[in-house]
Amino acid sequence: MFKKLVTGAAFALALVPAASFAAGGGDQHIEDFAFSFEGPFGSYDQNQLQRGLQIYTEVCSACHGLKLIPIRTLSDEGGPQLPEDQVRAYASDNFSIYDPELDEDRPAKPTDNFPVNDALGAPDLSLMAKARAGFHGPAGLGINQLVKGMGGAEYIASLLTGYTGETKEEAGTTFYENTAFPGGWISMAPPLADEQVEFIDGHSNDLHHLSEDVSAFLMWTAEPKMMARKQAGLVGVLFLTVLSVLLYLTNKRLWAPHKGKKIS
Ligand code: HEC
Repeated sequence: MFKKLVTGAAFALALVPAASFAAGGGDQHIEDFAFSFEGPFGSYDQNQLQRGLQIYTEVCSACHGLKLIPIRTLSDEGGPQLPEDQVRAYASDNFSIYDPELDEDRPAKPTDNFPVNDALGAPDLSLMAKARAGFHGPAGLGINQLVKGMGGAEYIASLLTGYTGETKEEAGTTFYENTAFPGGWISMAPPLADEQVEFIDGHSNDLHHLSEDVSAFLMWTAEPKMMARKQAGLVGVLFLTVLSVLLYLTNKRLWAPHKGKKIS
């Protein structure tokens, strides 16, 4: 009895450092934004993706590339769905690409990918929404992910809205305090502010909305086929449900003559 108590206490003690470590790593604050693409029936909001594209183009593309994303996919179903002539104009108006055959830069075409850009060491954003998880806890168990999703888009939106205004200088680099960034200090200056981007339809452009829109766009670049995936999943579940019912009835039918009878 006594021995059991002692091992129990030792076990509890061993758990304490593990739990406090998880809490130490999880002191980031990730807000749970309500995105249209959440849940089994969620889908991208085409207008939001178009606003997000505009924010990326006017602000983020100064430092960040989207090198894995072909510009032509902007007209794909389920994405921002720009008409093809607009995609052509968008590509040539905004980006130039180095052409090794001409040995000079030429305006980008829809068949090109978004340019590579790593100004100031900024990471490529193509897959960022899938490379980051917003929710881990409690105590690193990942239960929040079951309820709220992985939260890559939430992480980005929380990062963009998470600046406290504090800065510090370290080895010649300025760091900005941010409540969402692991460690709390990021070298990216706050890229967005209220009313920084104007939308032609006059949609709200406070910091919160701008952050949400560009994060939704980055979720789309990271998972452009999310809607097709959800649809296929739904069809699969329906099919398996019908199959289960049929198999149940078949099983009943096959065994009917043998049930309730004494085996002689
Ligand atoms: C002036 C250049 C610059 C601009 C403009 C900029 N960023 Fe950054 N960004 C950086 C740098 C540099 C880093 C690397 C920061 C670090 O690791 O400390 C970074 C990192 C990031 C990260 C990764 C954070 C992580 O978890 O590693 C995300 C996400 C991000 N930026 C999103 C954006 C978005 C969205 C925009 C546009 C609204 C934007 N950035 C505009 C320079 C920029």
